[in-house]
Parts: sequence; C-alpha cells; structure tokens
Amino acid sequence: MPHKIAAGNWKMNGMRGDLKHLKDIAKAARDVDCITVICPPVTMLRSAVNQTHDALNIGAQDCHVELKGAFTGDISAPMLADAGADYVIVGHSERRNGHGENNALVRAKAEQVLAAGMTPILCIGESLAVREAGDAVAVVSEQLKSSLPADSGIVVAYEPIWAIGTGLVPSVEQIAQMHDALRALLQDVFPETGARVTLLYGGSVKASNADDIFSVANVDGALVGGASLTADDFVPIMQALDRSAP
Ligand code: PGA
Repeated sequence: MPHKIAAGNWKMNGMRGDLKHLKDIAKAARDVDCITVICPPVTMLRSAVNQTHDALNIGAQDCHVELKGAFTGDISAPMLADAGADYVIVGHSERRNGHGENNALVRAKAEQVLAAGMTPILCIGESLAVREAGDAVAVVSEQLKSSLPADSGIVVAYEPIWAIGTGLVPSVEQIAQMHDALRALLQDVFPETGARVTLLYGGSVKASNADDIFSVANVDGALVGGASLTADDFVPIMQALDRSAP
C-alpha cells in the first residue's frame, strides 16, 4: 500500500509570523493517520524543523543538481538534508516553465535528493493545449518516464498546469484515467515496488473538493499550494485524506 500524504507547497510565501500556521497544522497532524509534509520557503526551513518536526515532515521546493561549488544563490540537496528537510519537490511546473528545467535535469535532481537520504516529490503535468488536443495521458506518461530516477523511493505528483492556482480541477474521471496510467507505468518500471509509490494529485485542491479527489483509485494524497498556507484551509484537506478509503 502506498503511504497517504497531504503535502503543502508554500511557494514564495511565508514570513516568520506564519510559523503560527505551521504550528497549528502540526497540532492537527498528530490526529490524522496520514503523513503531513509542508514545504515552506527555504528561509523558514530551520525554524520549521526546530518547531514542528515532531509532528510534521518538512520539505524544500527545489534544489540545485550539483552538490556544492560556485553556484551563487543555489542550494544543494545535501544542504537541505543538513538543514533537516525530509522531502524535496523537483520538477514543479513553475520550475520547468519559469526556469527552463527539462526532464533530464529533473531526473538528476531527484537522484541527488535520494542520494542525500531524502524523498523527491517529482511533479509532472500537462498544459491546457495538450489536454485539449487529447494528448494528456501520453505526454504526462512520457514526462514521468523521462524524469524517473533509478530508485522507486519517490513520491509522484500529477499536477495539470491549467489547474494550478486557477480554481479549475479535472473531472474525477480525468484524474482516474491519468492516475491509473501513471500507476501502470510505475509498476512497469518498478515491478516489485511500483504499486507502493505514493501518487499525489495537485492543482486547486481545496476542502470543498478534497473528498471527491481522494475517492479516486490511485490517488494517495495531494500536493496543495494556496490552500496549504493556513491551518484553517489545510487541516480539512488532511482530515479528508485521513477518512478516505485506504
Ligand atoms: P494550487 O497549487 O493548490 O495553489 O493550485 C498546487 C501546486 O502548484 O503545487
């Protein structure tokens, strides 16, 4: 069985004052039977680890592909592990599109995250044009195949780009079709362990749609942006995941 994971991606949001939301999320995390991960901005990583690590897993939102060296402004996977991170998001569409990251780079970053003893949350997802052309499953499957590291100790997040931050959500049928295809691919590549890889859905997940999304087979949790910034919004999503069928 894959672990159920409720993951929050704070993106470029969060100041010291927002630690109170993290602490409230941590308090609720003790009462749900699923893994909770919050990926705050890296400026908050140490305080997040110090103040909430007993109840929360803490993640980073990206890492550099090299281990160290002359890369001004960048942070490597071992540095994130050293700061106490457990997870690192790689290949988010805001990195792929805003920073020109391709599948080969995303795969190399995932390998570094694994080598540093953390779990990559590997993101994939199609554009609206691809969805409308009817190519979503083929394109996203190819993206996953080309971004996969050699080790199955990963979390995969399917995030249609057109659903991120827009309030638009695919139908449960569309989510089911994609997640079934991704599960089959994972089992093909990792015959022993592919069935146990946690497969998240991401893109405009909210308390109001979480139950429907978590009712879909092969959806093992969510990667949540906007609705992960406060405990009021995120805790109901964690609770919806907790009460969803295993
Ligand atoms: P959203 O973002 O929940 O705000 O749509 C999801 C994500 O980008 O991970």
